[in-house]
Amino acid sequence: METVVSGIRSTGNLHLGNYFGAIRNFVKMQHQHKCYFFIADLHALTTHPKPDHFRNSVRNVLVEYLAAGLDPEACTLYIQSDVPEISELYLLLNMVAYVGELERCTSFKDKIRKHADNINAGLLTYPVLMAADILIHKATKVPVGKDQEQHLEMARNFGNRFNHLYNKEVFPEPFAYNFGEQLIKVPGLDGSGKMGKSESEGNAVFLADTPEIIRKKVMKALTDGGPTAPHQEKPEIIAHLFQLMQLVSSAETYAHFDSAWNTCSIRYGDMKKQLAEDMIAFTEPFRDKINETAANEALLKEVINSGAEKARKSAAETLKEVKETIGIKA
Ligand code: TRP
Repeated sequence: METVVSGIRSTGNLHLGNYFGAIRNFVKMQHQHKCYFFIADLHALTTHPKPDHFRNSVRNVLVEYLAAGLDPEACTLYIQSDVPEISELYLLLNMVAYVGELERCTSFKDKIRKHADNINAGLLTYPVLMAADILIHKATKVPVGKDQEQHLEMARNFGNRFNHLYNKEVFPEPFAYNFGEQLIKVPGLDGSGKMGKSESEGNAVFLADTPEIIRKKVMKALTDGGPTAPHQEKPEIIAHLFQLMQLVSSAETYAHFDSAWNTCSIRYGDMKKQLAEDMIAFTEPFRDKINETAANEALLKEVINSGAEKARKSAAETLKEVKETIGIKA
């Protein structure tokens, strides 16, 4: 069985894009591999969040991932900062990470451009902490999006460099795991190609959104003047609505509106009403579970504690081996 690690950013609520793009696959993988999923709270500190807000968002993400189907019995689910071994490995890996390569990292260069007022060393060494997250469990598979490819390459470099320096195969090579064919792009409601929280307001449908909010967001989605000839190719914003419909509606519903498009009899108002109702039905079980989980303080505590315990056991083994290899006396 291969070991899988993935970090979840602790910002914002989960939306349908997160669900179809990542979480659904996590839920599947937890039964097929030895999975470690964690909330990357230390990574979030680079932007200096306010303590109350920070605490709440970590808790929120945990609640929503549990509601979305991560099962603490099937995987190891924990909060990064509950595993101090990760921070210790991060320090040790900093010795094999070169400033030059960290400065050349695309995500660092992006951050410099966007946050010129806060270029802290935590940003520079973000890839080292991420490598520690992965190497601490000797993971070989890392389910992440394309944008994380370079970070993965750096994790392999740090691990290999460590192995060479001490002439010992301590770390295996981790690779990004993109789910191949299963990778689904979820369009947003504002005409942009991607559902995301940083896009415009109303672009994303969150699992926690109430039916009223979902109706409002979907009814506001952009449309055009309608088809002018039978069997026209759908323009992008209309194709996006159909893609969303494919994800949450029945095959019959999809076929109904598809043929309405092809015969130029489509009424976008009807289509959006239907899409909204199907999104509401799709997200309802999640919404219920989110509310139920958020109210269960004892359960959350238990999940956090047992997750930390399981993760620390694996992490301590690796850290011990690393320290022995380096020559730090036990
Ligand atoms: N950098 C990742 C992101 O932005 C989050 C992350 C942190 C992560 N540590 C990780 C992902 C370890 C996979 C493995 O999405």
